[in-house]
Order: sequence, then structure tokens, then C-alpha cells
Amino acid sequence: MNLQIKSFDEYKRVYDYSVNEPENFWAEIASSFTWKRKWDKVLEWNFKEPNIEWFKGATLNITENCLDRHLENNADTPAIIWEPNDPEEDHRVLTYRQLHDKVCQFANVLKNNGAKKGDRVCIYLPMVPELAIAVLACARIGAIHSVVFGGFSAQSIADRINDASCSLVITADGGFRGNKDIPLKDIIDDALVQCRSVNKVIVLTRSRAAISMIKGRDVWWEDEIKKVETQGNPDCPAEEMDAEDVLFILYTSGSTGKPKGVVHTCGGYMVYAGYTFANVFQYQPGEVFFCTADIGWITGHSYIVYGPLSQGATNIMFEGIPTWPTPGRFWDIVDKYKVNILYTAPTAIRSLMSFGDEPLQGKDLSSITKLGSVGEPINEEAWHWYNEKIGKKQAPIVDTWWQTENGGIMISPIAGVTPTKPGYATLPLPGIQPVLVDENGKEIEGNGVSGNLCIKFPWPGIIRTTYGDHERCRQTYFSTYENMYFTGDGCLRDEDGYYRITGRVDDVLNVSGHRIGTAEVENAINMHSDVVESAVVGYPHEIKGQGVYAYVILGSSEHDKELTRKNILQTVTRIIGAIAKPDKIQFVTGLPKTRSG
Ligand code: PRX
Repeated sequence: MNLQIKSFDEYKRVYDYSVNEPENFWAEIASSFTWKRKWDKVLEWNFKEPNIEWFKGATLNITENCLDRHLENNADTPAIIWEPNDPEEDHRVLTYRQLHDKVCQFANVLKNNGAKKGDRVCIYLPMVPELAIAVLACARIGAIHSVVFGGFSAQSIADRINDASCSLVITADGGFRGNKDIPLKDIIDDALVQCRSVNKVIVLTRSRAAISMIKGRDVWWEDEIKKVETQGNPDCPAEEMDAEDVLFILYTSGSTGKPKGVVHTCGGYMVYAGYTFANVFQYQPGEVFFCTADIGWITGHSYIVYGPLSQGATNIMFEGIPTWPTPGRFWDIVDKYKVNILYTAPTAIRSLMSFGDEPLQGKDLSSITKLGSVGEPINEEAWHWYNEKIGKKQAPIVDTWWQTENGGIMISPIAGVTPTKPGYATLPLPGIQPVLVDENGKEIEGNGVSGNLCIKFPWPGIIRTTYGDHERCRQTYFSTYENMYFTGDGCLRDEDGYYRITGRVDDVLNVSGHRIGTAEVENAINMHSDVVESAVVGYPHEIKGQGVYAYVILGSSEHDKELTRKNILQTVTRIIGAIAKPDKIQFVTGLPKTRSG
């Protein structure tokens, strides 16, 4: 089967086939990937425990699919085009051959530093090509990567490192984001005070900030590469991985205080990321794909690294932010590299929209043929602006709904195939069986209805467990409604059977497309010595989608309120990171309580 569906009729046919014969459907999709050993059984599952195994008995290495298999015909195709934060700095291009060689080289560095199959490696790097190289090098040797977004605090990193008992950390001296310098190594040093499992830190040179290097623990990336070069073996054979071996852990927020490590496995995740990339974006050889996410989030894992590379695509990787040095930054990049497919978040669209048409003047956007949106509901105004000003009404918009736990896009138009509707993620991809349920878990059938969104049959990219705590996985996703995966999202299905995601129905906020648990923010606020109690809720925010609103009870009324407000913000920044800072803090003397408190 071709991974790409070419007409709406074909979509309907293939969709029905995927529901009636899921195992045959997925076996055909999986056949377009490179396996070291074919599976004995396509799927074994129950949602009760849950136990989900895809492509049982198969072995593979995802990097052979992302790198080696392109060397025969596409070795010189650019795999990653890197655009730095500062437009004055030179950009970099890595072809598939070069990326392959750098990944092998760094994989050997990892081995020299004691990393082996199954070890957990924490990656805390800026958006430079070495981030993708580090991720792929882990996958090459079968080490499990846990990428932590560069905006998280030392405390958050320490929690993640300890939860997974990482033995190795890969970071940089510092990074750049807009006009800010991020002291990555200093933050890691603060984190590691609390981490006993880490015995090696590999440090990339990026910002040339002054940092401390601890003897015996910290080594420079560049020095280690030189050692590998003098050892004279540039190749690194790809470790043979079982389809269900863990590929990576990625932490995400839920409704309780502690982020959980979502676990994805090698075979299923590869098939799902590759299939959805090829199909949703209808990627054609030679096209330039630009996903603006950070690799620290699932969107970057699936649509900068694994999805596009598995399909031999050319990817833009951007280090900076949409508004620096000017709000025309994205459009300059589109113009410079003749981007064909742009995949970004509603927050970015709304923010850029607020600058009016001026940043668009003189920018040639005619290369754009497809647009994508991800991470949060896109309001109609932003959808129309994106369609008219960026796509010139010629580029279909794929509003892609999915989650960290899903591995890849779940409900979305297929570009140029599915008729779109502003604000609608439209229809499930073949292989995905969504259902709406009421509070009692009863399926709500028919169209023109709304309910809680569940998925009633597994797909290859589904979460397997939460790292170190399988019961938590069961409780969070598989216990609310019997025999279904619960998404935590509310959803309506209109008269045409089109899905529109209405937002989270649990205590999770979506701030600028980032998931933040209200309990997590409350815990952080409560760490402040003057705070007795707090309650955090979301409120509609014009740019961020949702803002963070905190009600706070202070221990005494003697405080300088303004200073306390700033101190609380500082505390949240320390405990979680600046992304979770409340937009509004209201001091109150009481909070509503249920009878049980
Ligand atoms: O509420 C949904 C929202 O983002 C949540 C998942 O967040 P995360 O795991 O961080 O992954 C974001 C990137 C895949 C979902 O539960 N969400 C994501 N995409 C959309 C969306 N809401 C509406 N429309 C979307 N296209």
C-alpha cells in the first residue's frame, strides 16, 4: 500500500478497510519500512492492563529507516537545513550522508562514555543540529532518550532525570532564544546537585559562555568527537531492537502534580510517525518542510526528527522564535529556503497576526503549498488569516489533533484530499477509531453531538506505559472508560461527522500550545514561604489560547503585595520554568471548598 491517499473516495475506502481489517491494514503500512526481522504477529492488545504490542517478534533500528536507507539514492539530499537564532550567523545544511556520519560518530562517543542499550540519556540542548544528532545517536545504540525542553528549570530537569535514573546528560554551554542567552550548563549543574544516577555530562560548545566543567564527570562534545576520529572507525552498526523495546521517554503534564514519562517503543512509533507524516502532509520528494516546534516537545520528535527523516524529507530546523529580531522572521525563512509546507501552532499564528500585514511586505511566500496547525484549537479568525495571508487561499490547512501519548497525528485533514472547515480537525486518519462518550462511558452515536473523546482501538503510536509506573498509565488513560483510551479532550462531531476539539475536560491547561497541569502550578506556588494555599485555573487569552490565573491565600496581610507577586513568579520559574508563570495572581482570603475540603 502507498502511504499516501490521493482522493477523498480513496480515503473513505481505506478508512473502512482499516476498521474492518486493522491488522492487514497496518501490516501493509509497516511493509514500506525497513525491518531487520519481520513480525510474527501484527498486534496483541488489551486496554485493561493495558498491554499493547505491535509487530511482535520484529526487529529493527529506527535510524536505519531515517538514515541508512536513504544513502543509496538520496545521500546528497539535504536532511536538515538549520537556521540559527541570529539571522546574521551562517546557516548549516546536513545531507543524509553527512547526518548519517555525524550520528554514527556521536553514537561512538556515547559508547566511549559508557552508554549502552537500555540506558536512559537526558538531552537538554538548544535547537541546533546536534540535538537531532544526539537523539538519533541514542536510537542508534538503543539508549533511551529523554529530551527535556530548554525552557524547563533545574528542578524540573532533576525530577525528570531522577524519575528515569538517567546515567548520562547531553547539554551545551548555553543557547540563544531571541535576545536571551540560556545558561543551559549552569541549569544542568544546579539540577545535578539532586541527581545521583548521572555519571557523565557531554557538553556541546554553542554560546561560549563561561561554565564550570567538573573533572571526571563533564567532557566536551568536540573533544570526544576527536577521540572517535583518532580511533579511526567512523561507522557505528545500528543496534538490533525489538519492535517493543523502548525508543524514548517524553515527560508531559497531567492533572496530578507530577509530570509523567510517556513511553514510546521502536517499531510502532516509527511506523506511526512515518505514515502520518507522509500521508497528512502529502510530502513529495524535493519539497521543503518547516515544522516550527522545538524537539523538546512531541511535535519536534515526530515531525522534525523521526517522521520526515524516515521519509527522506528535507527539513528546516529553526533555533529562534517567530518574533525576533522582527515579526517577519518566519516569512524570511519561508522566502529564503522556498518552504513548501509550514507546520506551526495557533499561538504563533495569533501572535504574528497581531503585527498586521507589515511584516509580510516584500516576502515571497509563493512556494507554500500546504499549511499545518498543531497543539491547540485554532480559532476561526486565526484560521482565516493563515489561509488568506500565508496560504493565499491556495494551500490547504491541515488542523492536526493529537497528543504526546499518541506518537503522531490522529484526527486531521489529509492535505488536498479532505475538504477542510475552519476550526475543525475534520476526520480520523485511517487506522484511528474515535468515539464520543458521555460521563458514564456510554458511546454517543450519530452526528451533531458532543462528548468526551476516546479511541476504541489501538494504533501503532499509542503510549505503552508511563515510565516506572504502569498503574499510573492504566489509571490515567484506560480506567475512566472501560476498554477505551481516554484523551482528556472534549469534542463535538458535527452534522457531516467532522470532529472539532473543544479543549481539555481535565485540570490541564493549554498555554501557548504547551500542556501545564493546574496542580503542578499550584504545587510550585505553594512552595513560596508566604503562601498558605492556591488555586489555579485557565482563562481565555488572546494570544496564548489560555492564560494561567492563580488565586492565592497569603499567610499574613503584612506583605508588600507587589513584591510577593514577583516572588511567586520567581518561585514558579524556579520550580517549573518560565512557561508556567501565572499571567494573573489574585490575592484572596478564602477559596471555595467542597464539604470534604
Ligand atoms: O487538548 C489537545 C491539544 O493539545 C493536547 C495535547 O498536548 P500535547 O501532548 O502537548 O501535544 C501537543 C502537540 C501534539 C490535546 O489533548 N491539541 C493538540 N492539537 C490540537 C489540540 N486541540 C485542538 N486542536 C488541535 N489541532
